[in-house]
Amino acid sequence: MNADMSTQASLAAAPEVATGAPAPAAAGPVLMDCRVEHIFYGSFLAVRNAEVPIIANEITAFIGPSGCGKSTVLRSLNRMNDFVPGFRMEGHVHYRGQDIYAPGVDPVAVRRSIGMVFQQPNPFATSIYNNVAFGLKLNRFKGDYAERIEKALRGAALWDEVKDKLNSSGLALSGGQQQRLCIARAIAVEPDLLLMDEPCSALDPIATRRVEELMLELKQTYTIAIVTHNLQQAQRVADRTAFFFVDTSAGGRTGYLIEYRPTQELFGDPKEEQTRAYIRGDFS
Ligand SMILES: Nc1ncnc2c1ncn2[C@@H]1O[C@H](COP(=O)(O)OP(=O)(O)OP(=O)(O)O)[C@@H](O)[C@H]1O
Ligand SMILES: [Mg+2]
Repeated sequence: MNADMSTQASLAAAPEVATGAPAPAAAGPVLMDCRVEHIFYGSFLAVRNAEVPIIANEITAFIGPSGCGKSTVLRSLNRMNDFVPGFRMEGHVHYRGQDIYAPGVDPVAVRRSIGMVFQQPNPFATSIYNNVAFGLKLNRFKGDYAERIEKALRGAALWDEVKDKLNSSGLALSGGQQQRLCIARAIAVEPDLLLMDEPCSALDPIATRRVEELMLELKQTYTIAIVTHNLQQAQRVADRTAFFFVDTSAGGRTGYLIEYRPTQELFGDPKEEQTRAYIRGDFS
């Protein structure tokens, strides 16, 4: 067994429930205990004080004005920010009770369990089949590729539209189909947490609703964290919502968490004035 696989095995074997996370009453198990104290890019303090437990088999939405650190926090949940020079996080991210930033943890293994779908559909310039097979090959999957690829495409509600053209280019699909292809690519490796950064912002309303329906289906099997600027979307799909804002008081622009609550409560009865104003549309 190589080092990557042993790390993967230890991630998979970690306990089901992280301990000590401040989950709201009646919440299910905390899959990811995210406690950001500070995130820096070089000397720039981008985010402070964001504690967002991600509950298993729920959809958690991150909302807030541009630049408040939603993507920064989301990308910290599967070590995607490791690619950004100068990125530094203080705090911790515990996934199934294990610190994903602990020395010796392999980021590739982390990203196998915690997948990501980006804002712009970004299929690779290869066939539909190869797009979905990509992560499987990366992870040296030894099972039946055709079977797993069909399962992923069905899971992403794309199979019926592409089953007769699996060898066509992924780039020849419509925008909405491309985004579902990217979702298929992400779920092919069977992650249990899926991070989605504004996955519908490039889609029309019909494709958007299709992806939203898909998210609601996927949460039976997976856990989802989504960044969205679409407040209706957060209310339609999210079980819990985290509202971020930007603090400019010290002359900087530092994002921080204002409120994290069940979605209906956050929208129906916001506790903080900034949340109330944002929901009213006073600033975007
Ligand atoms: N790679 C990076 N290098 C340096 N600074 C960055 C980087 N990515 C983001 N930032 C800065 O961190 C802060 C938070 O950015 P982030 O992209 O997380 O915000 P956001 O809430 O996702 O905004 P938007 O809604 O516009 O996508 C911003 O001030 C941004 O300029
Ligand atoms: Mg963003």
